[in-house]
Amino acid sequence: MTSYKDLGLVNTKEMFAKAVKGGYAIPAFNFNTMEQMQAIVQAAVETKSPVIMQVSKGARKYANATILRYMAQGAVEYAKELGCAKPQIVLHLDHGDSFELCKDCIDMGFSSVMIDGSSLPYEENIALTKKVVDYAHKYDVTVEAELGVLAGVEDEVASEVSHYTKPEEVIDFAKRSGCDSLAISIGTSHGAYKFKPEQCTRDPKTGKLVPPPLAFDVLHAIEKKLPGFPIVLHGSSSVPQDEVDTINKFGGKLPDAVGIPEEQLREASKSAVCKINIDSDSRLAMTAAIRKYLAENPAHFDPRQYLTPARENMKKMYIHKIVNVLGSNDKL
Ligand code: G3H
Ligand code: 13P
Ligand code: ZN
Repeated sequence: MTSYKDLGLVNTKEMFAKAVKGGYAIPAFNFNTMEQMQAIVQAAVETKSPVIMQVSKGARKYANATILRYMAQGAVEYAKELGCAKPQIVLHLDHGDSFELCKDCIDMGFSSVMIDGSSLPYEENIALTKKVVDYAHKYDVTVEAELGVLAGVEDEVASEVSHYTKPEEVIDFAKRSGCDSLAISIGTSHGAYKFKPEQCTRDPKTGKLVPPPLAFDVLHAIEKKLPGFPIVLHGSSSVPQDEVDTINKFGGKLPDAVGIPEEQLREASKSAVCKINIDSDSRLAMTAAIRKYLAENPAHFDPRQYLTPARENMKKMYIHKIVNVLGSNDKL
C-alpha cells in the first residue's frame, strides 16, 4: 500500500472547494506518454495552476500502470525542479469501471478515482459508487461518480445517444453514494466527433459545423439542488479547427471533426463545474505537430526531433486552456 501523500500528490477536496468558490475550473488532462506529462507539468508550473493528471484504463494498458504512477511521482518532483515550491497535482483514475480497478489505483498511490457506473441501473450505480467511496475514504482518496450518459465512447462503454442527468436524482445520488464530485451529462461527449453533422448548423462563411449549445438549464437546475457541490464535465475538448486543418493538410483525414465551443466551457467554469476533462485536444495537438514536422523534414527519423514540437504544441494548448478557458492560473 502506497499513500499518495508520500508521493507529494494531493486529493481534490480543497482544490474543488476553492475552484467552486472562485468561479474557475481545474484542468483534468489525460496522459499516456512522457511528453504529455512533461507538457502538462510545464504548463501548470508556468501558469501557477493546480492540475489533475488522469489515467484511463486504456492508458494503463498502453503504458503500464506502475510506470504511469511513477511518472506522476516524477511530475511532482519535476514541478519542484521547475521552481514550483508546492505543486498541487492530483493523480486521478479516469472512468474506473470496477471496484477492483479503483482499489488497485488507490493501493498504488492514486489520490482520486472515478467510478463510472453511469451505464448501470440507478440503484446499482449508487451501490457500486458507495462501495468505492467506503474504501477510498479510509485513505482520504476522493471519488468522482457519474450520473447521466454521455453519447460516444466511454472506454469500453459506447452509447449512441446521450441521456442528460436528471436534476431530480442528484440529491439522493450524492447523499446515498457519498461521492465527492459528480460528472453530469449536459450535451458534451468524448472524442473528436462530438456531434453528427445533422445535429449541427453550418457557418455560412467558413462552411464549418456549429454544434448545438450545451444544456445550461440542466446544469443550473443541478446546481440549485446541490449548491456548492463539485460538478465535473467530461468530453470537453474543443477540437480546435487549426489543428484539424493542419492534420488534414499533412495527410490526415478528419472530416467534420467538431468539439465544444470554448465560450461555453468558459461559462461553465464560472459555475459549480470545477473539473473539466480534456484528452482529445492533446491528441490533436500532438498529431498535428508530428504530421507537419515529418512532412517538412522527410529525412528525419529521430523521435526526439518530431516529439519536441509535439510537446511544445501540447504545452501551448494546455496553457491556453488554463488561462483563457478554465481560469485556473495564478491559484497556487
Ligand atoms: O474518456 C475517455 C478518455 O479520453 C480516455 O480515453 O480510454 O482511449 O484512454 P482512452
Ligand atoms: P475529450 O474526448 O473531449 O477530450 O474528453 C476527455 C474525457 O472526458 C476524459 O475522461
Ligand atoms: Zn470522460
